[in-house]
Amino acid sequence: MELVELAQSHQKIILEIGFGNGENTSFLAGKYPNALIIASEVYLSGIGSLLNSIDQNSLSNIKIYDDDVRELLLKINSEIFDEIYIICPDPWPKARHHKRRLIKHNFLKVMAKVLKKDGTVYISTDWENYAESIEEELEAIKEKFSFKKISNEGMPVTRFQQRAINEGRAIHTFLLKVLKK
Ligand SMILES: C[S@@+](CC[C@H](N)C(=O)[O-])C[C@H]1O[C@@H](n2cnc3c(N)ncnc32)[C@H](O)[C@@H]1O
Repeated sequence: MELVELAQSHQKIILEIGFGNGENTSFLAGKYPNALIIASEVYLSGIGSLLNSIDQNSLSNIKIYDDDVRELLLKINSEIFDEIYIICPDPWPKARHHKRRLIKHNFLKVMAKVLKKDGTVYISTDWENYAESIEEELEAIKEKFSFKKISNEGMPVTRFQQRAINEGRAIHTFLLKVLKK
């Protein structure tokens, strides 16, 4: 079934981008049993971990998309998502690689197009320099989103967040709200 058709049969649709081992995906699926969670990841071992969790926790509301999420989003021409989660996007810490970062204003624009009215994007990074660049990208597209920095209390700690905590790095979390009339 096409994603847009699936969206019509669910009141709430959540997209998680780059779920890693799927800790947050399983958490969301349990928290919102009536929602459909579209979980995107290209890392095969992570997909295996999420499949195990789906099996062990009898989760029936997750669909895995195992390819580049940008390809998926470019194919969607309607507002279908209520919430999008991106936790620890690849940091590309070297300055010459910053252009590869996912959170750029062009990608934010693509997300704004597929979000429903009042839809939100939760972005959490463990790299201070990436957090600064996210604020700059948001500034460049402030007609599309309002945003605030929030605590990630109450959310599960993912593998990459745990690594950052172990290494003494802070987690920077943003909650974006799409601006639509
Ligand atoms: C640093 S890891 C974070 C994983 C997990 N969210 C966590 O916090 O532990 C970033 C993940 O995003 C995935 N990723 C990067 N670009 C992606 C894309 N365009 N589409 C889907 N997944 C992507 C990578 O495969 C990687 O597993």
